[in-house]
Amino acid sequence: MKIGIIGCGSITKYRHAPEYDENPYVKEIVFYDRNPERAEALAELFNGSVAQTAEDLFEDESIVAISDCSSNDSHHIFSTKALLSGKHVLTEKPIALTVEDAKEILDAQKKTGKWLMVDHNQRFTKAHQKAKSIIKSGELGNVLTFKTNFGHGGPESWGVNKSNSTWFFKKDRSGYGVAADLGIHKLDLIHYLLNDRINQVSAFQGVLDKVDENGQPIEVCDNIICNLRTEGGKLGTASFSWTYYGEEDNSTTIYFEKGIMKIYQDDQYQIEVLTKDGEKINYEIEAIQTNDNQTNTGVIDAFVDSVRNETEPIVTGQDALESLKVVLAIIESADKNQVVMVK
Ligand SMILES: NC(=O)c1ccc[n+]([C@@H]2O[C@H](COP(=O)([O-])OP(=O)(O)OC[C@H]3O[C@@H](n4cnc5c(N)ncnc54)[C@H](O)[C@@H]3O)[C@@H](O)[C@H]2O)c1
Repeated sequence: MKIGIIGCGSITKYRHAPEYDENPYVKEIVFYDRNPERAEALAELFNGSVAQTAEDLFEDESIVAISDCSSNDSHHIFSTKALLSGKHVLTEKPIALTVEDAKEILDAQKKTGKWLMVDHNQRFTKAHQKAKSIIKSGELGNVLTFKTNFGHGGPESWGVNKSNSTWFFKKDRSGYGVAADLGIHKLDLIHYLLNDRINQVSAFQGVLDKVDENGQPIEVCDNIICNLRTEGGKLGTASFSWTYYGEEDNSTTIYFEKGIMKIYQDDQYQIEVLTKDGEKINYEIEAIQTNDNQTNTGVIDAFVDSVRNETEPIVTGQDALESLKVVLAIIESADKNQVVMVK
């Protein structure tokens, strides 16, 4: 397969391109970025080629699928056009900044019948997949409550522009700050693990520490702390932060009728189960991918498999839209100081 990638920043360099490169069914990657030197650098690194415009990728009939790794504001433009030009699409998260824009992509997918997957990669980690199977088995009874966290020191040390002028800090391009950057991953994870939907939220947000290139507080939240209720009546809390300096927190805890499951809280054991009877079961599975530990996420392999085998991707556009709606609800709640129903 020949693959096109739009946007040649960090997620392309550290995840999409290396994982396509390692996939046995991918023979060439064509890179496009509005900063051509970024596309050229990655083409050299991964033995690929460069497109001068996104249209060149859409019009190239030998390109089967496209990864949309542009910034959040552009996903609906590129992903919609790519689908309408007959390509399968893997879009980065958040799928879009508004429900209308996300629906434009979903409509293009329905119209063309091409596959659309969204990179909610938390579903793919082996520990999260094991956690889902433990929940599904019913061995710990029903889930009652949960808490989930995702935080690190901020995107200004991750993106290709390593400075406080990063687009991640701009409202028109990032949308919702840490809520749509890290938060959306865990909201999707909760939907996946519990096979349920968050339908009611309240939240507090703040710009507690981050400043822009002029030393002013950034335009989007660097912290947001949420209360969540699911359709199935489960209650949870979630903390998302760009100011966890020193160590990333990627942890989730699920409280069941018959025990507790802790995920990513111990360096050796990615899952620890503590039962009501006092038993402790530790699972050593695989360390999670972090900004400092870039291992294969499995996302690209799953997308390529979906295209090759004509099977629905593990994360659909509809899944991504549901998570986006929760992000919109937590931002609305924090803005209005009100409990908000997810629409
Ligand atoms: N799934 C994950 O775990 C994960 C992690 C990090 C980032 N992301 C997502 O990936 C996307 C890219 O993030 P990144 O970290 O690579 O950012 P980045 O700033 O490092 O790179 C973005 C690149 O896209 C290019 N670009 C942006 N808009 C463009 C446009 N309209 N036309 C052409 N080129 C354009 C920029 O020039 C830049 O080179 C974002 O949506 C982000 O939320 C996902």
